[in-house]
Amino acid sequence: MKFACHVEEIDISGIRKSFEGAGPGAINLGLGQPDFDTPDHIKRAAIEAIEEGFTGYTMNLGTAELRAALAEKFRRENGLDYAPSEIMVTSGASEALFLAIAAVVEKGDEVLIGDPGFVSYSAIARVTHGRAVSVPMDGRFHLTAEAVAERVTPRTRALIVNSPNNPTGSVQTREELRALAELAEDHDFALISDEVYEQFIYEGEHASPALYSENVITINAVSKTYAMTGWRLGYLAARGEALENMLKIHQYVQACASSISQRAALAAVSGPQDCVRMMREEFRRRRDVLVEGLRSMGVEMEKPAGAFYAFPRVGDGNDVATRLIKKGVVVVPGTAFGSVGREHIRISYAASMEDIKTALERMREIL
Ligand SMILES: Cc1ncc(COP(=O)(O)O)c(C=O)c1O
Repeated sequence: MKFACHVEEIDISGIRKSFEGAGPGAINLGLGQPDFDTPDHIKRAAIEAIEEGFTGYTMNLGTAELRAALAEKFRRENGLDYAPSEIMVTSGASEALFLAIAAVVEKGDEVLIGDPGFVSYSAIARVTHGRAVSVPMDGRFHLTAEAVAERVTPRTRALIVNSPNNPTGSVQTREELRALAELAEDHDFALISDEVYEQFIYEGEHASPALYSENVITINAVSKTYAMTGWRLGYLAARGEALENMLKIHQYVQACASSISQRAALAAVSGPQDCVRMMREEFRRRRDVLVEGLRSMGVEMEKPAGAFYAFPRVGDGNDVATRLIKKGVVVVPGTAFGSVGREHIRISYAASMEDIKTALERMREIL
């Protein structure tokens, strides 16, 4: 069997690679998912859906109830006025990202991606026959409109913005996001805004670029917000033709998101939000312990303002990550996210306080 060269050229994710070589008893600070369990009221909604026999296909866009609840969520939390008909439910933010990129990219078109950036963006750009163009973030890991503008060409079709950011934990300011949205307007490309960490901000505020441009495709998921990564439930919102074109791909590759997970997501989005506050406060405490611990070893770093990652500069990131794995601490080398972060490692603090403290002790010898 012969495989397509644009697929063969894609590497297996550097995050997955970093787990290789970890022995038993290793502490995993490499994972990008909350270590909490899905809250009970959400699980119950899914169990009820199964017991009621709500187990068939739903509308391609997702159930009317869930899209109405998501429209309300966008109004309440983001100040965005999306109609339920402008919202599509997907299998995780991952599918939404694929749809958004596939809908706008033709062979050789360019997708601007902040470096460091989440591993999927450049891989999807390449699977869809586009070109991933990396835009170096500034010294504080913010994506500036100036850096993006320098790389815009007639072939630019999309810019991906991810705030709070994976892997750096940085949170863009409202003004920065507005400037990026204005660039998308001026040059008529899509701004794909990946907002999956919006609820995990410890300093600063979340702003949705869609407040400032109609060219924005807003992507989110219940995955991180409600500790539901395995439920595979995400969503996107976009205006007019953009939604229709993404729907064409979605209906053939996915048909619809899981009916059961849609019921669970409805309970998550429209139910009590204290579980989210609890997780945010716990992540904040862990972040503080992790950053203080790293600083006490002489690692100079700002406190990351959001998500659940620290991205300290440690020298040769690959070498340090390999040595840490041998010591029993799994972290991801910065090179998994591009070339700008090669002197960094990504440490996830979505792990118990006890694990973070033990990991710090093991790290001390190496850092
Ligand atoms: C920035 C970012 N976007 C999207 C995703 C994928 O989310 P989902 O599990 O909903 O597909 C992740 C997962 O790690 C992520 O970090």
